[in-house]
Amino acid sequence: MKKVMLDVDTGVDDALAILYGLESGELDVQGITTVCGNVPLEMVVSNTKRVLTHMGRTDIPVVPGAQRPLLREAEHEYKVHGADGIGGAIPDVQAEGVWPYDDRFAPDFIIEQASRHRGELTLILVGPLTNFALALRREPRVAEWLKEVVIMGGLVSEAGRGNKLPNAEFNIYADAEAALIVFHSGADITLVSLDVTLQTYLTMEHIEQLEGTAYYNFVRESTGVFREFSRDLFGTDGCALHDPLTVGYVLDPTLLQTERHYVTVETVSPLSYGQTICDFRGLWKEAPNVRVCLGVEADRFLAHFIETLRGKA
Ligand code: BDR
Ligand code: CA
Repeated sequence: MKKVMLDVDTGVDDALAILYGLESGELDVQGITTVCGNVPLEMVVSNTKRVLTHMGRTDIPVVPGAQRPLLREAEHEYKVHGADGIGGAIPDVQAEGVWPYDDRFAPDFIIEQASRHRGELTLILVGPLTNFALALRREPRVAEWLKEVVIMGGLVSEAGRGNKLPNAEFNIYADAEAALIVFHSGADITLVSLDVTLQTYLTMEHIEQLEGTAYYNFVRESTGVFREFSRDLFGTDGCALHDPLTVGYVLDPTLLQTERHYVTVETVSPLSYGQTICDFRGLWKEAPNVRVCLGVEADRFLAHFIETLRGKA
């Protein structure tokens, strides 16, 4: 079992990533940290706990983190994830009072876990990078203590095909200053970017394969707003499995074709704030700092995702 921690801004696809990771049975999840992103922090915490309650996994620690980005104001994505952040699914599941009172702070929890499991822990980040940036500011050695950091964010080859600005993806755009700190931290980073996640669409046809299983209603209902948004904006059928693919890479790295390059983040330009710039040709003569993704076996990933969720019959 791989030891991991998940950092989420739940979020429809964050919820699907949690289901996928926990149901895979291959991840030893030390905890889930939460960050302001798709929706405000309080809602992220509540959604994460509601999803875990729905799964019967109230044993997983959920630790709240940053309430806002490092410097900029928060922007949320209700139009993608719905007014409650999980597309109105599981309305009757409440998690109030299910977890005991816990006053830990996500960046400290990341440092503590990375220190306890030196060289063993994979940190999976599927929201804005604020919590990890704060952890690095407080304890830079956390970068070397972690075995690997796998981030959903950015776009590297597909300039002009962002989902927040033409050249920017939401998680990086939401806190580009934090992303800059993270990318230059020295950690072993893999960036699962839009280049590959936008090739993994969960369609109604896939969802119907879950009929009769425990997560059918949740997946169908939670993705409704997201699927509609994708259809209206991108003309695509289904919703991209950004965050689940990031977990998928941790479960099976052969799903993605990767290369190491120097990547940095634009934080100044109003036209491309949050752009991840990958120096494929080595023009800046900087050492590679990020493993970027250039290809994905989308059908194999989607089949594994469905099979894993079906497992919980
Ligand atoms: C990312 O942004 C969020 O809306 C999703 O949860 C995902 O992590 C995709 O750009
Ligand atoms: Ca997310």
